[in-house]
Order: sequence, then C-alpha cells, then structure tokens
Amino acid sequence: MLWWRISGRLERAKTLLASMVNGDLTAVNAMITARQLIVDGLHKMRQLAADPALRSSITTDAAVDECLFAPAAVLRKAKTSSEVAGCPFRRGSLFILELGSANKGAANRDLVFLSQSWSHCPAEKWVPALLEGVWTRFSATLHES
Ligand code: HEM
Repeated sequence: MLWWRISGRLERAKTLLASMVNGDLTAVNAMITARQLIVDGLHKMRQLAADPALRSSITTDAAVDECLFAPAAVLRKAKTSSEVAGCPFRRGSLFILELGSANKGAANRDLVFLSQSWSHCPAEKWVPALLEGVWTRFSATLHES
C-alpha cells in the first residue's frame, strides 16, 4: 500500500475510477464497498466448494444466493420532518439502514441490491452473473476430473 502511495498508483487508480462515473463520489464509494463484497462472496464460495456433500446438492442459484453479501449499512437523510412508528424526526435527520443484518437469513437479491429503490445498484445483474460464472466453471472442472 505504501509503494502504491509513493509511486502515485493509488492516485491514478482513484482518478481512473472517478472518471468512469463523472467524478461522483457516492459512486466511487459504492465501487470501493463493492470490491470487498465480491471478495467476501468469493471466500464464501470457496467454503461451499470445499464441502463435497454440499457442493453436489446445492443448485447454482442457491450457491450464488449464499455468496451475495449486502453492504453493512446505507445512509438516508430525511427531506422533511415527520415520524415513523410514533417516533418523530426532524428534517435533515440521518437514518442508517442496516442492510447487512436485514439481509441475514433468507437470500433476497432485491434487498441486497436495493433493486426496488431509486438508488438501486447498477451491477445488480452483473454481480450474480459473475458468481454464477465462477461456480459453473468450478463445477465443470469437477466433472472433468
Ligand atoms: C456484492 C456486490 C454488490 C452489492 C451487494 C451492491 C449493493 C449496492 C447497493 C445496496 C447500493 C445502493 C446504496 C444506497 O442506496 O446507498 C449500490 C449502489 C451502487 N453500486 Fe453496488 N453493489 C455491488 C457491486 C457493485 C459493483 C461491482 C459496482 C460497479 C463496479 C457497483 C456500483 C454501484 C454504484 C455506482 C452505486 C451507486 C448508485 C447510485 O447512487 O445511483 N456495485 N450497490
């Protein structure tokens, strides 16, 4: 990391990433978070693959669902004062939606990518397709050997 900083690679990588989303910092932050979520998903997939009984019984879709991790939390700022479940809040209040824990348990891709929200993830199809591709290729190598 130190070498990346000294050599300017880190700065160049950030500039390249930002240029792809017109310098939108929210999007840059979303992609930085996304990287870790995909790494977590691939680690989980490695665990599933290491269990012979499980890997032969699980469907590809179910394997992908197991490996989809939602961001731990997303933030929302109230545009107006109001109340929710009898609890009043002021305009400008910050809400933390704990998506990670809401998503624990049954897999729900809509929730993982906030698909029904105005801010839904633009990679909501790409990420499951990536994980599906990894799982399918891994399964194919098992059948060949
Ligand atoms: C496991 C992988 C991923 C998950 C679970 C995920 C989930 C999400 C969620 C829940 C949001 C909405 C955040 C909010 O409302 O505050 C979001 C936004 C976003 N995601 Fe993803 N994401 C993933 C991968 C990716 C990847 C690979 C990219 C692109 C390289 C990406 C790019 C974005 C961008 C640009 C936004 C901001 C959209 C906007 O503000 O209009 N995501 N993502």
